[in-house]
Parts: sequence; C-alpha cells; structure tokens
Amino acid sequence: MIVQNAKLKQYGKMAQVKVLFVCLGNICRSPLAEGIFRHKIEQKGMASRFVVDSCGTAAYHVGEHPDDRSVANARKNGVEYDHLGRQLKEQDFYRFDYILAMDEYNLADIHRLQPADAKAQVMMMRAFDPMDENANVPDPYYGGEDGFQLVFEILERSTEHLLARLMKDHSLS
Ligand code: 4NP
Repeated sequence: MIVQNAKLKQYGKMAQVKVLFVCLGNICRSPLAEGIFRHKIEQKGMASRFVVDSCGTAAYHVGEHPDDRSVANARKNGVEYDHLGRQLKEQDFYRFDYILAMDEYNLADIHRLQPADAKAQVMMMRAFDPMDENANVPDPYYGGEDGFQLVFEILERSTEHLLARLMKDHSLS
C-alpha cells in the first residue's frame, strides 16, 4: 500500500522545464530576462511548469540585488522582480535544460565551463528575437535610460518567443 502511494506521487508530479538566463554581472540583463519570463508564465498560469533562474559568468556582484535603474525601468513597463546575484557553476549544466546567453562573450565563457556530458542546451537569448536573430543583448550598465528601455524591449520580445517555443516543444498549454 505504501509503495503504491509512493508511485502515484512520483507519476503525478509533472516534469518542469528548467531555464537559466546568463549575463556577465547578473544585475542588469539576466535578472531582467528572468523577471520578464517569470511575469509571463505567472500571467499564463504556467509558473508551476517551469524552474527559472539567472546568474553571471563573473562574481563581481554575488549576493547583490538587481541594478536600481533596471528595476525602475521594468516597473515602468509593468514588471516587478527581484533576485540575488550568483555566479554560474558547473552544477547548472546538469540542473537546467536551457541556458540562455545574453551576448557572445557570455556564450564563450559558458562554453569554457561547460562539461562534456552537460544536460543543458546552451543558446543565445536573441536566437528567439525575430527582429535580430543571434545579435547580442547590449550591456546597459555604462549607459543611460535609453539603454535600459532598449534592453527591456529586446528581452520582452525574446522571452515571448522563447516561451512560445518551449510550450510547443514540451506540449504545455
Ligand atoms: P549585466 O551588466 O552583465 O547585464 O549584469 C553588467 C553589470 C556589471 C558589470 C558589467 C556588466 N560590471 O562590470 O560590474
């Protein structure tokens, strides 16, 4: 009887799709991508079907909240989010199904750390942006408000198309 219950529990649990967004510092682009993606899956009632996280290739901002300018811009665009910075680690390649790099430098750093038997598929975030496939998500850190708005719009489009693709590929609705 106990064994049967345990089996039911195991089979009853739906598989989750695990997505990790990666940039350099994990205070501007990747936590915003995570925040927008999370906002979208919550709006669709799909949050329980996903595990979503973000991290940086560098350790400069470990333990820090996202950049205030990024948070303020997202709020203006209707998205609230928070995150604590962390660095990419080897375990992430086994835990996540998809790792999305914000730019080509992040991609190269990710590939350097990627174990040969990694589970995760590593891709560029803008591979899902119909307006500019395979371009970089520009780093807004040293620029002004325009840069943060541009990054928001790029990530809004890219995460929308990423989500549509994942829902299709994983038969989620
Ligand atoms: P992010 O932006 O990679 O989008 O989080 C940056 C944040 C911090 C630094 C560089 C980029 N930094 O040099 O400290």
